[in-house]
Amino acid sequence: MTSLALTGIGELVTWDDARPVLNDAALVIDDGRVVWSGSATQTPAADEARDVGGRAVIPGFVDSHAHLVFAGDRAAEFEARMTGEAYSAGGIRTTVEATRGASDEQLRANVRRLVTEMRRHGTTTVEIKSGYGLTAHDEARSLAVAREFTDETTFLGAHVTPTGTAASDYVDLVTGEMLDACAPDARWIDVFCEDGAFGADEARTVLEAGMAAGLLPRIHANQLGPGPGVQLAVELGAAAADHCTFLSDADVDALAGSATVAGLLPGVEFSTRQPFPDGRRLIDAGVTVAIATDCNPGSSYTSSMPFCIAVAVREMGLSPREALWAATMGGARSLRRDEVGHLRVGARADYVVLDAPSSVHLAYRPGVQLVL
Ligand code: NIG
Ligand code: FE
Repeated sequence: MTSLALTGIGELVTWDDARPVLNDAALVIDDGRVVWSGSATQTPAADEARDVGGRAVIPGFVDSHAHLVFAGDRAAEFEARMTGEAYSAGGIRTTVEATRGASDEQLRANVRRLVTEMRRHGTTTVEIKSGYGLTAHDEARSLAVAREFTDETTFLGAHVTPTGTAASDYVDLVTGEMLDACAPDARWIDVFCEDGAFGADEARTVLEAGMAAGLLPRIHANQLGPGPGVQLAVELGAAAADHCTFLSDADVDALAGSATVAGLLPGVEFSTRQPFPDGRRLIDAGVTVAIATDCNPGSSYTSSMPFCIAVAVREMGLSPREALWAATMGGARSLRRDEVGHLRVGARADYVVLDAPSSVHLAYRPGVQLVL
């Protein structure tokens, strides 16, 4: 392996404790890892050099929440929402029908297309959920496809109860035969805890069964209204409680005193015309916050982390630096990963060069392709 020195970096974001952001910097990588960062004037020798001409270099984004294994789209549902219809969990069933009718190769092609989009927008680590199959066979093949693209695979059989099935029978299936079929290809267990999806007791049953099978818990919580999801996540030691749109003071306190990361999904409120959660309130309370796309055909059909950063800054009260942290380190914490989300010595060399002098431009220039 040859070493590479990135030189001429106008702004280098490493998230190193002592100097998280450096100006006029250089970064040296070797064997896929960061081996040095510091002032450009002290750059050690390397086999190759690349001068980035004063541009910003940041850690690749860690998108900790995405539903990429599906078929079809729901543009008509989105259009109806933009003319006054409300978003509801039931729309998921439309995608379930299309997904069941798609071949493995069609599902794989869809994931490949979306992961390619994500990479173009600077994402270097992505979590991918199942959840549009809702039979043991369709959930297992969804996870097998997801596994071809990432190690961060999540079994979300408990997305909604499929049409024509009693809720209790479906929870039995998800925690029995479906879990057995899915666990080999999943790292995480997830549940949509919400009115219209799964209640607190059902969500607990699903998460505990997944944990007993060796999966790690995360949850969709408090998206469409106040609810028990966040408290359950904290109680079970879940890595993430995602959405967090409707939080009580007790929910915020519980998150602040825990290792559970609050996942903010700005594309969802943007695309469903829901109120934005107050990210400022979470950060001020000491909660660890991640930003993710929630890329899915219903509530948030964006694959762009820069878009989500811009919306989080504009609508959720985060500073540009906080939003960048949440989209990189926050995502890594959400996925309990140490070697991604930063560019400290030892990190995976997942760096991204921006066609901009500073990372503030991610929010300052919304909708502009800045990732080189
Ligand atoms: O994270 N909330 C549950 N699941 C997705 C939406 C899925 C859909 O509408 O298809 C979400 O927003
Ligand atoms: Fe989701």
